[in-house]
Amino acid sequence: MSMLLSCCVTSALLVGAPGETVPLGALELGRMTQGWGEPKVDRSVTGAPLSIAGRRFEHGVGTHARSHLWLELAGGSERFLAFVGVDDDTEPARGTVVFEVLGDGKKLWSSGTLARGAPPLAVDVDVRGVQHLLLRVGDAGDGIDHDHADWADARFVVVGERPRAIDAPREEPVILTPPPARSPRLNTAAAVGCRPGNPFLYRLPTTGERPMRFAAAGLPASLALDPTTGIVRGVAPERGEHAVTLTATNAHGSATRALRIVSGDALALTPPMGWNSWYSHYDRITDELARQAADALLASGMADVGYQYVCLDDCWMNAPAHRDPKRVGPLRDADGELVPNAHFPDMRALTEYVHARGLKAGIYTSPGPRTCAGFAGSFGHEAQDARRFVEWGFDFLKYDWCSYGELTAGDTSLAALQQPYRTMGALLAAERRDVVFNLCQYGMGDVWEWGADVGGHTWRTAGDLGLELDRIFDVALANAEHREWSRPGAWNDPDYIQIGSFGDARTIGEPRPCRLTPNEQHSFMSLWCLMAAPLFFSGDMRALDAFTLNVLCNAEVIELDQDPLGVAARSVVLGDETFAFVKELANGDRAVGLFNHGEFETDVRVVWADLGLDGEWRARDVWRQRDLRTLPTEFSTRLGRHGVALLRLGRPR
Ligand code: GLA
Repeated sequence: MSMLLSCCVTSALLVGAPGETVPLGALELGRMTQGWGEPKVDRSVTGAPLSIAGRRFEHGVGTHARSHLWLELAGGSERFLAFVGVDDDTEPARGTVVFEVLGDGKKLWSSGTLARGAPPLAVDVDVRGVQHLLLRVGDAGDGIDHDHADWADARFVVVGERPRAIDAPREEPVILTPPPARSPRLNTAAAVGCRPGNPFLYRLPTTGERPMRFAAAGLPASLALDPTTGIVRGVAPERGEHAVTLTATNAHGSATRALRIVSGDALALTPPMGWNSWYSHYDRITDELARQAADALLASGMADVGYQYVCLDDCWMNAPAHRDPKRVGPLRDADGELVPNAHFPDMRALTEYVHARGLKAGIYTSPGPRTCAGFAGSFGHEAQDARRFVEWGFDFLKYDWCSYGELTAGDTSLAALQQPYRTMGALLAAERRDVVFNLCQYGMGDVWEWGADVGGHTWRTAGDLGLELDRIFDVALANAEHREWSRPGAWNDPDYIQIGSFGDARTIGEPRPCRLTPNEQHSFMSLWCLMAAPLFFSGDMRALDAFTLNVLCNAEVIELDQDPLGVAARSVVLGDETFAFVKELANGDRAVGLFNHGEFETDVRVVWADLGLDGEWRARDVWRQRDLRTLPTEFSTRLGRHGVALLRLGRPR
């Protein structure tokens, strides 16, 4: 009896009276995600009364682009009603947004772009029969600043079950890629650049069961290969191309692969790969964590598919003030040398630890007096610091603009933007060590056009991706616009791979399992590889789970990134929320990624000719490492929400 009663009470709560109105603000808004602040009931996102172009609303929900609220209507609602617009509380008076109502995969209503000051726009959407509804506020393509968005007077007219806020759909983290074969596979780059006479180090990335024996025919005499570890060391040979044939053998078979050692001026002939400390450790990075990362690169198998740099980001030096007293101390010693903080007892010993494993080490500084996190920068000590980094044994330098802006007195001329990078680029090039030079100045002055001229090998094309992880597709599409500047030794850098476990960039939080869905993680890696982006994983190396490693370590996916032609993908719009990235490969194959950045699963069909690909192709599913049986001139598939199909196309045999 009592059970029956409780069942009826519950259903009475869930089911509304016919024609009843349920305000949006009555739903569980904790499930709403948004780009800034928290959703507010009957208030704007800043807590002010709801107001659009001078018209006040008593009720509604204040949010901020980019905002998503998923609802289960279960066919119980008839209409969704509201007034929408940018709230008057923005200061300065800016902000442009797009409100959208999507039901069961279809766009039911869109406001188009609404700017602050536009009168409230009435929404009246027929939602009869809709199971799942998504209320979305986009940034109208100009970023989220000032995008205070109001769903004013928003309400559902209910005839059956009441609407319920739910989480965004999540997929199971399905492992797509089979484990590497037990027999050897050499995952070496096709070409490695070095400068004559400089120290040379390269651990041949190779999957397959150990023990393994390595051999190299045609290796220049100044280099030696350790046959058991596969580490090549020595002195870079004389100027010119040296063709080497590598062999790896174990109990299950053997593999052979060509390697060109190109001794000259160029470095980073394929996009650099490794790990960077920023997004997992921020101002908590220590010598110990860096060593653990080096060990984990080997133990996890990441080094076997090509990840080789272990890069310290900001916060290894001292700061004038910091909550951690071990990071406070003299910025420089009596000789003007930079002083590592107490978490880094011996920099030389750290790089030796990394090099002993066949890996390389990276360091970070700023051309300004202070780094972005307020630690000691290199201003006024550029030559001294370049020399010191080389003495310590670093192989990679990230040079982060930050406080340098205070020194340019508002001069935004190209010469002013280039100057610090030109200075450091020349200093590094003159050193007797190969140091890959990573420009970090967020794309100012169209850095892709001149980054290589000032000695850079990679350059960030935009701000910090960690602050924009809800728009990896947009970031990738913007980065891909600079594709014509991508070539061996010169790479557009859309920032680090953030999958698995890492810390929130807004709060510089401790590493936690990320909120990206499995599809998003596969898309992330696919986009980066198709763009020939540097591949730096910036997650927590102590928390590598099987799924994360599977996404990071598919040798065939990485091969697309490392293709020696160095071409970045061009994008082709397929539909409203689908697009393709098409990348030319050195052997005449093509890599094609089909992406769905929409919120619902969708079918795609592409005719190769529409992607600018002539003739017939056979397709391989690169994530699953499986040849597909498809028609030679077209391809159809179903793409998950934010999902990808990554293909390698070759000519029919
Ligand atoms: C900037 C850079 C980041 C990181 C931090 C360190 O924000 O863009 O990649 O290096 O500085 O403070």
